[in-house]
Amino acid sequence: MREHLHAVLPFGLVLIALAFASERGEAHKPITSKYTYNDDVFPIVRDRCGRCHVADGIAPMSLVTYKDAYPWAESIRGELVAGHMPPWNAEDNIGAFRNRPAIAAREIDTVLTWATGGTPAGNPLHAPPEVILKREWPMGMPELVLPLPAEFEMPAGTSEETREFTVPTHTTEARRVRAVDLLPGTPAIVRHATVAIRSAPENVLAVWLPGEDPVATTNGTAFWLPAGAELLVRIHYKKSYKYEGRAMTDRSAVGLYFAPAAATQVRSWIVASPPVTEASGDRVSFNRVIDEDVEALAVYPDPALANVALQIDAVAPDGVRTPVIRVAVRPGWTRRYWFERPLALHRGSRIEVVALVNGADVLLLPSAAPTPRQPATGSPVRVTFDVVPAQTNGPK
Ligand code: HEC
Repeated sequence: MREHLHAVLPFGLVLIALAFASERGEAHKPITSKYTYNDDVFPIVRDRCGRCHVADGIAPMSLVTYKDAYPWAESIRGELVAGHMPPWNAEDNIGAFRNRPAIAAREIDTVLTWATGGTPAGNPLHAPPEVILKREWPMGMPELVLPLPAEFEMPAGTSEETREFTVPTHTTEARRVRAVDLLPGTPAIVRHATVAIRSAPENVLAVWLPGEDPVATTNGTAFWLPAGAELLVRIHYKKSYKYEGRAMTDRSAVGLYFAPAAATQVRSWIVASPPVTEASGDRVSFNRVIDEDVEALAVYPDPALANVALQIDAVAPDGVRTPVIRVAVRPGWTRRYWFERPLALHRGSRIEVVALVNGADVLLLPSAAPTPRQPATGSPVRVTFDVVPAQTNGPK
């Protein structure tokens, strides 16, 4: 019965949308696209964009119905051409990463052709089924679920705000953690989050983004959670224009996935620049030499940074240079980049970082600064590697 209704409803909607579309606009824009929304574009946007661009999701508009998607054609073209969506922001062909969103060049081409070729809906009989925002833990039920201590209220007049919550774990012994996830209470406003250990905030357990599956440590490695640890959960809330002027509430939950006690502890190894000021110019170079053999599992820029392009190379003791990553740190999109294979760094290797700052316009996001955005006069640019001693992280 329910399915029957679903089949009928979108069909009606698409007919209305079609009538609407041909009334305005399409007379000016001839249809040149051989791809249609119903047959070609929908499956791509559902799989590549639909976890955020869905009703009640974090993105400003849904892309999983024709009527919602086609008015955004020009914007979709712009974002795809700029490589901004789906959000990843690291250059292809440098390094290989486990959590890179999968989107094929062919898929981008299909959406671009459709967006610039008159956005045809296609056969109404092929109108896609309704897509509903999934509200579940992508990795399955965590072993420990910790709701935030209180409901957060975002007043009608506030559109962006960062909040810190202290979440006691009540664990009685030290635990190893293979993954930490966050389940938003109100997905439409939970824009970015970090989960760290309160007593050692440089130990970031999770850099959370909407629509991304958590990544678990592999090969007998894990993050370390001291007994009775308190978590520091920092959430950046943001309303899209749809929710402007509305009071919203959220009560997200943190989920912990444990690893065996014998797991090797992942440590943070930080490379930091001297404080960046106007006088530093637009190019800040810094490096650090590693004094033991390690394997790096992941790398992430300071989640408070934005508007910096980072170029990170590893220079082995024999002088061989390996590009590690090139990443444009865009506001609200910092993430942990998990190497496809652990990156071996031998004792004596030098990690070299070049940070291109827009005329010293290194921004500290609200997650770090009390005011909306501040140029980082005097803050360092920091990059953290998650490392384990070499050899412990054996073959897959
Ligand atoms: C991880 C979640 C996520 C995914 C996946 C994603 N988007 Fe977005 N998108 C957003 C958010 C959030 C914004 C709002 C801008 C911001 O907060 O940075 C946005 C903004 C946009 C905009 C600009 C809207 C405007 O205001 O002009 C377009 C266009 C867009 N996305 C298209 C896409 C397309 C096409 C895909 C798939 C190929 C995609 N996005 C995948 C989250 C996502």
